[in-house]
Amino acid sequence: MTKKAIVTGGAQGIGAELVAALIEADYEVGIIDIDSDALAEIAKRCKGVTPLPADVGNRAEVEAAFREFGSLDLLVNNAGIVRFGPLIDQTQDDIQAVISVNLMGSMLCAQQAAKRMQDIGGVIINMSSVNAVHPAPNVGLYAATKAAIANLTQLQALEWGPLGIRVNAIAPGFIDAGMSAPIFADEKVRAKRSGGVPLHRLGTAADVISAVLYLASDAAAYIHGHELVIDGGVINSVLAHLPRD
Ligand SMILES: NC(=O)c1ccc[n+]([C@@H]2O[C@H](COP(=O)([O-])OP(=O)(O)OC[C@H]3O[C@@H](n4cnc5c(N)ncnc54)[C@H](O)[C@@H]3O)[C@@H](O)[C@H]2O)c1
Repeated sequence: MTKKAIVTGGAQGIGAELVAALIEADYEVGIIDIDSDALAEIAKRCKGVTPLPADVGNRAEVEAAFREFGSLDLLVNNAGIVRFGPLIDQTQDDIQAVISVNLMGSMLCAQQAAKRMQDIGGVIINMSSVNAVHPAPNVGLYAATKAAIANLTQLQALEWGPLGIRVNAIAPGFIDAGMSAPIFADEKVRAKRSGGVPLHRLGTAADVISAVLYLASDAAAYIHGHELVIDGGVINSVLAHLPRD
């Protein structure tokens, strides 16, 4: 039987590539995204996609989107934004926007999914980041919201596991796609960053997607409340980057 998935933030970047992979894997996919133009475009191109225009931080819009899509087997809470800059300069709007999309949005969508999955079963995958483990400077509230998502994943696993819902998080590192693609378009930055990764390359959307497909599958049936880091080894390499004689 065809499975049903909702991907938030699936109109572009990693999310859009994930939508294509899920369609390929025979899922029917609903995309919740605030960018209605990009959403209409992707729905025109891909058969099996239901466009669900909504702001993930708006409870009424999220409820309406889930109501329209109906039952579901998989939610990938992928929508995320960053407001780059030093913490000291973050405006209230910057702080509010990042918390609203990354944390509030993940929570509101997970709640709607859990209500439909309880006692039937389902999988929720929350998109975190290596910033949840080791925050990089100048990412504003991004790192704090991703750390909160990792913690929320553990709590959802505790409360929703008994309801038959499996919840995990993914923490990508330097991925050459989506919001990071403009940064890595600079050859110097690209060479520096990839040189610092133990696997000596940047990650790709495909690296992230294969982890999502794995966690969504029965092969991961006993993996629950876990944060899977996909970073080519970068967060383990802190000591390797300290100067030595
Ligand atoms: N690209 C990376 O290097 C990287 C690394 C680690 C984690 N991540 C995470 O992966 C996820 C996808 O990132 P990406 O790089 O593809 O980003 P992206 O900017 O390319 O795409 C984000 C998508 O979210 C949508 N969106 C933004 N605000 C929204 C809202 N209020 N409601 C609904 N949709 C909204 C956008 O329209 C867009 O389609 C994010 O959670 C990000 O934090 C990305």
